[in-house]
Amino acid sequence: MPFDFSRIAASCAVESPDRAVTLPPEAYASDEVFAAETDRVFKHGWIPLCRVEQLPVDGSYYSIDVLGIPLVVTRDRHSDIRVLSRNCTHRWMEICNGAGTANVLQCPYHLWSFGLDGHLAGAPEMKHSPGFDRKDFGLKVFRHEIWKGFVFVNIDGRAAPLADQLRALDPIVDPYDFENYRIVEQTEWGVCEWDWKVMVDNFMECYHHIGPHRQSLEAEFPATSSYTGEVGDHFTTMWSQQAPGYPAEPPFMAPGAATLSPEHSHKMLIFAVYPLLLIALGPGFMWWLKVLPLGAGRIDLYLDITMSPAALAAPALDERRSQLIKSICDIHREDLDVCAAVQRAINSGVTGVGRLSHLERPLWEFYRYLGRELGLLAGTPPVASDARGVIRR
Ligand code: FES
Ligand SMILES: [Fe+2]
Repeated sequence: MPFDFSRIAASCAVESPDRAVTLPPEAYASDEVFAAETDRVFKHGWIPLCRVEQLPVDGSYYSIDVLGIPLVVTRDRHSDIRVLSRNCTHRWMEICNGAGTANVLQCPYHLWSFGLDGHLAGAPEMKHSPGFDRKDFGLKVFRHEIWKGFVFVNIDGRAAPLADQLRALDPIVDPYDFENYRIVEQTEWGVCEWDWKVMVDNFMECYHHIGPHRQSLEAEFPATSSYTGEVGDHFTTMWSQQAPGYPAEPPFMAPGAATLSPEHSHKMLIFAVYPLLLIALGPGFMWWLKVLPLGAGRIDLYLDITMSPAALAAPALDERRSQLIKSICDIHREDLDVCAAVQRAINSGVTGVGRLSHLERPLWEFYRYLGRELGLLAGTPPVASDARGVIRR
């Protein structure tokens, strides 16, 4: 029986945040929903791949698979950044893996070699193939954009410019200067058995500080002091405020950019750039979750931690850095336990749509976005109009 998208539509279409409800549990475990999300949310959206600093010099490359598509982010000899297919244009072998620097990317199968701008630089023996022109066999180039130090890809090439989508977010994040924050730790959490939407749901509310984070976060950043900030069609923000009396101390709340106000020293900005970039940002730190969906109810998960220029320049860096990494990873583990448990419940066939609290308004925003992208809201093209024709309502 085809998936009943009207159940998701009902949650996404709730007009007022006061009446907000969860998505139906089956939305987190359906291959049909995942296929629709792949076409209309992930491929049509902007997916973060890495930070620009991960391509430090001309000739740098960084490999990453997105939705099963092997990509490589490169910096060519003119310092231009590109996102290329890693599939050779001869017989599709992957031309590279991992990250590093190279003059050319050489396919290990028949040794065709490609410049870091994607052009085919060499192809042994092909001069004997009449009409063969190297110009016709460059690597596929994907559309990319850079925003605040993140390299994003748009797989289908049809998204509106990312800079336009995030214009209203710029004034909120710019005082931090987080484009210039630098990575101090990269962590891999492997394949996680929960849906990407479970991860977003968990990330975008502080209500659960009273639960899994009651020992770690709740005293200093109480659930009830969190509030929704600016929202847009392609992002949502939330602030997590310190309880009165807590100092603005390293490694989280200091030191930060001179452009920040005193008020910034006592709150963290939590935000999502839909669909997959999840960021926690403060004067001294920024960490981001890289969520790579593998299928319904499955993701590959990475967590990268950065520090602000001021934090990197202050004394006792090693100690502050260790403290920052430990605290973030400990808190993150508390989140993983609940995400896994929620997905187990979903997979067991639990039914019933839950009611959301006023502290979960960003989830309501997120579901509105999903409804728009999936064509489930009035005035948006329906899911059934997909070219693939596999999705029916
Ligand atoms: S598949 Fe790459 S050179 Fe043949
Ligand atoms: Fe959490």
